[in-house]
Amino acid sequence: METNLNDKIVIENFSLQYVDGTESLRNINLRIPRNAITVIFGPAGGGKSTLLRCLNRLNDPADVKTMNGRILIENENILDPKTDIIRLRRKVGMVFARPVVLPMSIRSNITYGLEVMGEKRRSKLNEAVERSLKQAALWEEVRARLDEPGVALSGGQQQRLCLARSLALEPEIILLDEPTSGLDPISTGKVEASLQELKKTYTIILVPHSVQQAARTADFAAFFLQGELVEFSEGKTLFTAPSDKRTEDYVTGRFG
Ligand SMILES: Nc1ncnc2c1ncn2[C@@H]1O[C@H](COP(=O)(O)OP(=O)(O)O)[C@@H](O)[C@H]1O
Ligand SMILES: [Mg+2]
Repeated sequence: METNLNDKIVIENFSLQYVDGTESLRNINLRIPRNAITVIFGPAGGGKSTLLRCLNRLNDPADVKTMNGRILIENENILDPKTDIIRLRRKVGMVFARPVVLPMSIRSNITYGLEVMGEKRRSKLNEAVERSLKQAALWEEVRARLDEPGVALSGGQQQRLCLARSLALEPEIILLDEPTSGLDPISTGKVEASLQELKKTYTIILVPHSVQQAARTADFAAFFLQGELVEFSEGKTLFTAPSDKRTEDYVTGRFG
């Protein structure tokens, strides 16, 4: 399969089986365009989180029996054992369903990763704090309290802090696995709005917490069912005129 310049990630004939025999992904072929929000959605157990974890090699190798196929990020197969995982995770950031705020100040939550990588310059660190908090639509709410503990923030703010923390490392791809599942509608709206901004610079893959969120946010959408990719197309096509009956049943609320 040729890589099109517009594809940031190309997944080819990819399958994954866990050690207990669960075949969580079966022969997935999917191209993720750059500078867009691609939504991966479908009922629980469909393999969405498994796929996201593969994209930055976060699966515990002890859990995985076999992985076949290729996952190319700009022509580099990240499943290759020679892949530099640290570099990969820098390029591919991840935000989880429950905010994982570090037990330190708001500021340090952002600078931690950069400091681990050796950045010591105050000016660079301050710059990263402001830039990433702005990008995550949190700056105005916390600029006057950067030295307070991150855990003192509300759930919605904590989730945006986690997004800011991953943005501080200047990734190219951001994976979000049901990032707003625990949030109120206002915080959810803020996260969605910041994703619309971020897609101008980043490639975004979002597992939404509902079909409604999928339809609101998707430039492109992939419907996963029991380990298979049923349908992939532009969001506006998939949610208004799905080509597969199973997609239609799911998006119209007939199951799931
Ligand atoms: N570490 C694991 N070991 C064994 N089976 C797993 C593991 N993680 C997920 N699974 C199974 O793989 C399937 C897909 O799970 P998951 O990727 O979490 O789906 P989704 O995110 O779409 O709900 C499910 O059947 C789940 O039980
Ligand atoms: Mg999941």
